[in-house]
Amino acid sequence: MIILLCSSLLQGSAQEQAPLQVDRDNIRLSFSLDGEGSPRYAVLYKGHQLIAPSRQGFVLAEDSLFYKGFTITGTERKSVNETWEPVWGEERNIRNSYEQLTVHLKQQNAPGRLLDIVFRVFADGVGFRYEFPQQSGLKYFVVKDELTEFHLTGDHTVFWIPGDYDSNEYAYTTSRLSEVNNSRIVQAAADIAVRTVPDPFAVQTPLMLKTGNNIYINIHEAALINYPAMQLHVDGASHQLSARLVPDAVGNKAYLHSPCTTPWRTIIISDKATDILASRIILNLNEAPSATDFSWVRPMKFVGVWWEMQTGKSTWNYADDAARGKDDVLQPNGRHGANTANVKRYIDFAAANGIQGVLVEGWNTGWEDWFGNWKEDVFDFITPYPDFNVKEIEQYAASKGVQMIMHNETSGAATNYERQLDTAFRFMNAFGYHAVKTGYVGRIIPRGEHHDGQWMVNHYERVARKGLQYRVMIDAHEPPRPTGLQRTYPNWMASEAGRGNEYNAFSNGNAPDHETILPFTRLMGGPMDYTPGIFKLRHYAPHAPDRTVHTTLAKQLALYVTIYSPLQMVADLPENYEAHPDAFRFIREVPVDWDDTRIIAAEPGDYITIARKEKGKHNWFLGAITDENARTAAVPLSFLDKGKQYRAVIYADAPGADWKTNPEAYRIYEMVVDGNSTLTLQLAASGGAAVSFYPL
Ligand code: NOJ
Ligand code: CA
Repeated sequence: MIILLCSSLLQGSAQEQAPLQVDRDNIRLSFSLDGEGSPRYAVLYKGHQLIAPSRQGFVLAEDSLFYKGFTITGTERKSVNETWEPVWGEERNIRNSYEQLTVHLKQQNAPGRLLDIVFRVFADGVGFRYEFPQQSGLKYFVVKDELTEFHLTGDHTVFWIPGDYDSNEYAYTTSRLSEVNNSRIVQAAADIAVRTVPDPFAVQTPLMLKTGNNIYINIHEAALINYPAMQLHVDGASHQLSARLVPDAVGNKAYLHSPCTTPWRTIIISDKATDILASRIILNLNEAPSATDFSWVRPMKFVGVWWEMQTGKSTWNYADDAARGKDDVLQPNGRHGANTANVKRYIDFAAANGIQGVLVEGWNTGWEDWFGNWKEDVFDFITPYPDFNVKEIEQYAASKGVQMIMHNETSGAATNYERQLDTAFRFMNAFGYHAVKTGYVGRIIPRGEHHDGQWMVNHYERVARKGLQYRVMIDAHEPPRPTGLQRTYPNWMASEAGRGNEYNAFSNGNAPDHETILPFTRLMGGPMDYTPGIFKLRHYAPHAPDRTVHTTLAKQLALYVTIYSPLQMVADLPENYEAHPDAFRFIREVPVDWDDTRIIAAEPGDYITIARKEKGKHNWFLGAITDENARTAAVPLSFLDKGKQYRAVIYADAPGADWKTNPEAYRIYEMVVDGNSTLTLQLAASGGAAVSFYPL
């Protein structure tokens, strides 16, 4: 629902003098053409120049100079102030309020090609995109390069991962801009299946920056549709960032047909880190959904026959050797996780604990040779292994009021998946699956394409649409990092597209500050299937006895609040929860859909405290996490309803807790609090605290 409160349109004249300016609160956006007729924009915040005049434009196959020789033929301005209600999310109402400037450009030389640049200036930042009007001089065209630059004005601190065409699953590095060089990191990242990083100075977005005078800047994009993902090349000497689009198999970037638009380029700005996390610019720059009935889209928590494979206790594959021919019978290895009895055990556990969903991986044939072969037809999405009884599981889950979640791993063969998409979704409809986790581990087929290129961007959107058609919710693993498309596709609920908790299962894991950086980077674009909730933090991987999760148990609880997802996994094994029934109560009770969110304290790389109010209820939940440093979080509870008293249940690190030496030490205590109280939480090294508040 959209309520338009105020909107005005003013027509500018062709003679309007450059620079054009838009002011909104602390932000000034200016635009001009330089002496060569090249578009330039700049951004001021509280009088500080944060983006010095920066280039805009393109190299097209049809016009290698589509960045100069322009004149301004007209401008339009409008103000928008509206609120809208997401289907699910971090709050019930989202305010969208901005000043818009559209600049109409025309090239002087024949055929006089047209380009519009649209700026939206919000109280907390700027978005702009290119629009290619319908025109005979530019109908079908090929983008060779987008020349957008972000000319920063200092050697800022930057939180970054390498600009990889195929993966967002790197650990973050914190450095100065001038120190960015990803070569050693990429080389060492053997735990990432596919790495394609030709530019040692390229980084991914969302890119989080902090200036020397404590201004926070976040650069990303919104509404990535029919276009490749944007990465940024860092020039350490000039502090200039330049767009680098992920190429296709023949080196082109995008194939377009006017009229059309690019994604929005976003710059979120504040002198408070908490405002960066509270910004809704990226969601606001995405389109509202075209359908209206999303009653079938239901946020939920789920358990899964999954962590046991990740940690090596059981296997996805049924046999140890692949079948050699059609008639070759697979020899069971005796360790197959997705067997009917084991699945029922998870269904029982979910039902007993009010957890709505059960994911099962490794249920369909093909896992004997799925990985690393660049093979096209590894999987179909309807043939179970002999020990997985689809019908029996469907009936058992239904009898317990639990929903099964489908798993479709494509092993990167998007072509194979597309051919079978209708069959796969019909199978889900037939056997009661309302959600699917997809996966794209491995090199992409069509061969030569990349996970983050235009072809795959379109593929992921096709799958989201297929989900709309069949009423199936999507959780996409290995896609490009999200850009707010959950607004347009409310059934595309979550994505991985980052380094999840699973790296703690099969590799050296995630550093203690990882989860304090993710909300400022990966999560800026949308929900992450991070898979929190690991309780057994040591001795969980039989073949790697020294492996540990790099957090305390209380921090794993806090992640249910600090990392937002409407599909939130309860990732550990049932027996590990059964060993801690008191701590597990928080996971049982924490919701996944919210009326309100307050970012109470945050500093990228150091700490985060967030409070959220349950959708349709008066309960609040709070999560506080810290990096490798123990700290005290003093939390004013002013978000609670005035005059009401609440019972607060606090799940905290116990004295002596420490992620390295004593991670599973927690204590649970209760207090009566109100809006005037301040909670003092002691967070251990890589620790955290989770709190639930119930009105008395
Ligand atoms: C990678 C996914 O991120 C992970 O969760 C899944 O278990 C494997 N692929 C297998 O599909
Ligand atoms: Ca830190």
